[in-house]
Amino acid sequence: MKTLTIQVTVNGEAFCKTVGVNMTLLEFLREELHLTGTKLGCNEGECGACTVLVDGKPVNSCLMLAVEADGAEIFTVEGLAKDGTLHPLQEAFIEAGAVQCGFCTPGMLMSAKALLDKYPKPTAQQIRKELEGNICRCTGYDRIVKAIILASEMNKEG
Ligand code: FES
Ligand code: FES
Repeated sequence: MKTLTIQVTVNGEAFCKTVGVNMTLLEFLREELHLTGTKLGCNEGECGACTVLVDGKPVNSCLMLAVEADGAEIFTVEGLAKDGTLHPLQEAFIEAGAVQCGFCTPGMLMSAKALLDKYPKPTAQQIRKELEGNICRCTGYDRIVKAIILASEMNKEG
């Protein structure tokens, strides 16, 4: 199989790896870097469980090839907590009871991170709109919206 060597930064760490040209970014993160926080749901761009930030933008990593991420800065759910301290979004998800089975949570958190980077004080309507690509089968979304508003009120995003 044809391979290419790519250089990426993931959660601040630089990697240089040779990958198959048909490997997805999701497979690269989970299988090559063992960052299994990012979830494989539908594998066809419908559920958002695989959402990561690529150069600050949320993408479905199941739809992006690893070779397309060459040179990019990637941020996954593993990069949210710092030195054992949860990110405000993670704290808020716990506090608001926005996690049930948890399968959607990594993708939700990364979409929510991108959302708060764009709208530091979002309305419930903005949150619902920006997160429409992330499916949750458990919570009914209200607690997720509440959690993101709570995180925005903590006013220490970053
Ligand atoms: S696994 Fe990528 S969108 Fe569902
Ligand atoms: S908490 Fe179960 S899918 Fe969202």
